[in-house]
Amino acid sequence: MSKGIVYIIYGVSGSGKTTIGKKLAKDLDIPFFDADDFHPESNIKKMSDGFPLDDTDREPWLQKIANEIKVWNTKNGAVLACSALKIKYRKTLGSIDEKYIKWIFLEGSYDMISKRMQARKNHFFKKEMLVSQFETLEGPEKGIVITVDKSSDEIVNEIKSKLDTNRSQLGLIGLGVMGKSLAKNLLSKNFTLSVYNRQVDDYEVDIAKKFVKEQPDNHMVLGFDNLKSFVDSIEQPRTIILMVNAGKPVDVVIEALVPFLSKDDCVVDGGNSHYKSTLERSDRLIDKGIHFLGAGISGGEEGALKGPSIMPGGSKKAYNRSGNFLEAIAARDKANNPCCEYIGPEGSGHYVKMVHNGIEYAEMQLLAETYHVLRFYAKKNPDQIAAIFNIWRNNGLDSYLLEITADILLKKEGDDFLIDKVLDKAGQKGTGGWSTNAALEVGMPLSTISESVMARNISGIKSKRVEASEKYQLKTYSISSNDTIFIENLEKAFRTASVINHHIGFELIKEASNEYNWELNLSKIARIWTNGCIIRSDLMEQIWKLFLNDNDTSLLLLPDIIITVKSDIHSLTETVAAGLTSGFSLPVFSAAANYFLAYTSAQSSANIIQAQRDYFGAHTYQRVDTSLDEYFHTNWKH
Ligand code: 6PG
Repeated sequence: MSKGIVYIIYGVSGSGKTTIGKKLAKDLDIPFFDADDFHPESNIKKMSDGFPLDDTDREPWLQKIANEIKVWNTKNGAVLACSALKIKYRKTLGSIDEKYIKWIFLEGSYDMISKRMQARKNHFFKKEMLVSQFETLEGPEKGIVITVDKSSDEIVNEIKSKLDTNRSQLGLIGLGVMGKSLAKNLLSKNFTLSVYNRQVDDYEVDIAKKFVKEQPDNHMVLGFDNLKSFVDSIEQPRTIILMVNAGKPVDVVIEALVPFLSKDDCVVDGGNSHYKSTLERSDRLIDKGIHFLGAGISGGEEGALKGPSIMPGGSKKAYNRSGNFLEAIAARDKANNPCCEYIGPEGSGHYVKMVHNGIEYAEMQLLAETYHVLRFYAKKNPDQIAAIFNIWRNNGLDSYLLEITADILLKKEGDDFLIDKVLDKAGQKGTGGWSTNAALEVGMPLSTISESVMARNISGIKSKRVEASEKYQLKTYSISSNDTIFIENLEKAFRTASVINHHIGFELIKEASNEYNWELNLSKIARIWTNGCIIRSDLMEQIWKLFLNDNDTSLLLLPDIIITVKSDIHSLTETVAAGLTSGFSLPVFSAAANYFLAYTSAQSSANIIQAQRDYFGAHTYQRVDTSLDEYFHTNWKH
């Protein structure tokens, strides 16, 4: 076994930490330590005065042990017995260098442990104390798990057999662009990793082996094209991240994987899976004792490599098993916290990622429309537009998408701007459409997002558009007035439409959370989106703080937002009017303006709709002058 490793044995009192720890230390010929021996004087006094310790008392104690662990690492290693019941205690213990720590959790049910305690000679069994230990216990999220229903010799042998291999801390399946980047990210965080990629003749050959060869730290990574050997190479209980294409491939891999997995292993799907598939997969696997996390991962190739934003949903148990790996590789927010946090149960992680992509679609379309009117209405060149975008970035409108759009506009091919050579047909893999369907399922408006999907669909019928343009020969008009005023207005219009688009996305998340009882926290989600993901922006920095105090509010109803939107809404409607009357299609700007005007109208036009429904279909209507519990039908014919 590796020199300098510290084996931390944790679990509730009565699980046998000291007995097992001493035996293991003897067998490994390294020192044994009991965490209780490191309490500062103040804690000892408090305990001897009969007061229980709280987390504030425990923090310096755990920090002190973490420092000791570092020292033991530089020597021959050690065995430490420490109850470490909460995840945050284990985080503090591992805070200096987790790489040289092996965690061993002694597991037993309440009945099993209480029987063991009562059987001990001279031991006074306190029922309340054990109950409270079980209530406090979180996890195990890391290391090996040994059930203590056997003799101490058997337990120690089992520990040794599980430790006595060169197993990786986790596994990753699928070495496509995202999978490779995520694997490199994990390696850069010093995790030992097994990677698997399927073998397909002439197409995917020795991908995993080649990946291992390319890594500078290749002793940290094992490569496989045999699924069983891959699974066997990972520490139990295992964490395996799937980075395969969403849809059928995920089910194919899970089906092939399951026969080799053991109880308590955890599978994390890091692809853009549909949230309903995530729920089905989770239900199927939990029947076999296997945990499942549906983790939306945003940030593209660079994000996966340097730190993506991660949205993991599923059971808390699953998150406790695998969340530490995800948090370690995630981007950091401004306060250096990981842009990864437990989102909620079931398919909520993938739901939130789906809405992220919906917001992304509409933001991209807003930028495309902005570029289009600047180019063809205001007659600016791509480099001039890039300069305008870069000014906006310094005006509180900075975002990843604005930044990359400015970059795109500056790219040249010879003397020409490359953007002029890109065919005007936008592809899509489906998440925008899924968001639209999801909104329909809960009866929510999704105007900007659904319109951005339709804009991509219209872009797709290029030959029809060309035919129609030839047949209609419509004119477009360029700006006739002061373009500085138009550009100032456009900036405000863009800011306002973007706020409305974010409002729409968060409203859908809020509604889904209520509908499915997910208890999602909007501020937490917005915080995770402040870095690493495609929709990171100055606006997102503002939103997560605004939601901090009120999770049940609507973005457009917050006082700070009301002030800016109220002052800028005319810029949005004027821009839309100018664009449309000059012959330019502005679907998402228009959708934002229309949504806003409808959202802020106490009196809508829907009384006519309801009367029409009642006229032809006797669908009934409610009245403004009677109780809303009453429904009326009228024979409308004169
Ligand atoms: C992200 C992106 C990512 C991917 C989308 C693109 O958050 O990193 O959203 O998930 O780029 O799948 O979706 P379309 O192909 O549908 O545009």
